[in-house]
Amino acid sequence: MSVDVDGLLKAEIHCHIEGAAHPELVQRLARKHGLDVSDAIENNRYVWSDFTSFLNCYDNASRVFREPEDYRLLTYDCYSRMAEQKAIYGEVFASPDHAAELGIGYVDLIEAMAAGIEDARAEFGIEGRIIVTCVRHLGPESAEAVADQMVSNPHPAVTGFGMGGDERAFDIEDFAPAFAIASDAGLGITSHAGEFTGAKTVAESVEILGATRIGHGVRSIEDSGVVDLLVEQEVVLEVCPGSNVALKVYPSMADHPLRKLWDAGVRLCLNSDDPPYFHTSLTDEYRHGAESFAFSEGELNLTTQIALEAAFVDEQTRQRLLNRLAKGV
Ligand code: ADE
Ligand code: ZN
Repeated sequence: MSVDVDGLLKAEIHCHIEGAAHPELVQRLARKHGLDVSDAIENNRYVWSDFTSFLNCYDNASRVFREPEDYRLLTYDCYSRMAEQKAIYGEVFASPDHAAELGIGYVDLIEAMAAGIEDARAEFGIEGRIIVTCVRHLGPESAEAVADQMVSNPHPAVTGFGMGGDERAFDIEDFAPAFAIASDAGLGITSHAGEFTGAKTVAESVEILGATRIGHGVRSIEDSGVVDLLVEQEVVLEVCPGSNVALKVYPSMADHPLRKLWDAGVRLCLNSDDPPYFHTSLTDEYRHGAESFAFSEGELNLTTQIALEAAFVDEQTRQRLLNRLAKGV
């Protein structure tokens, strides 16, 4: 029997805010600011062909977010879309380096994003938090500067610290000081690893950076010792199958190790990463779970439960969300 994925309550804990911008919104803001985004969007679709050109396209399109109001609107749009898909909780990655490039300061960025989440919460009841991220290819000094800004300007909506960008740049241990600043301040830790680099970087992110969650982490499957480590330490993988196939980490869903990781006992959940860039959505990711990996309704609900158990929220909020999921409303 096929699973009614549209009807399931969901959670999203791996989504980049600029990566959630639909081309229509980017074009609208481009018109507002008198900018040309034809290097990033053609025929209403983002144009890129591999990971490097994806990152460039992402940066080019992100130039339209020039004012705090643009980030509020983007965040509201992102959470409204999540709520439409029956997500009850969402965490988004904020990248102060992207905003700073266009003159938006850290505090303005976070306040604008928190206002967008609050607007969506008031309208749809969706709960949300922000994970501040550094950009790996900008290097350890930028990462430390972002972590410093974050802990010097605490905000209740900011509950985690992470790292995106090009995994092939620098070594994990270079980023240990930035992550120590964040974990000493009590923030949750996640980091992209095991997407474009192998299983070793996943283990290093857990052992050196103190990550309790890993963005992607799918290439852990290449080393059974790393799979054992994830299972033993109950590390949660934020898996984004649509992203992995779009970026050619795997040639097709049939080659993706989601089911193998799950059957090995790895705690994981389903996420959309940069949905319009990969022509996906949170619901599509749950659909992949059902259709390509034969996840039952119970298993899909369990992935949502795992996302909520791993969420960077206070215990009272977590319990409220878990109760909602258990009741299915
Ligand atoms: N930034 C946005 N999407 C990303 C991805 N899939 N991997 C690394 N950095 C990213
Ligand atoms: Zn990501």
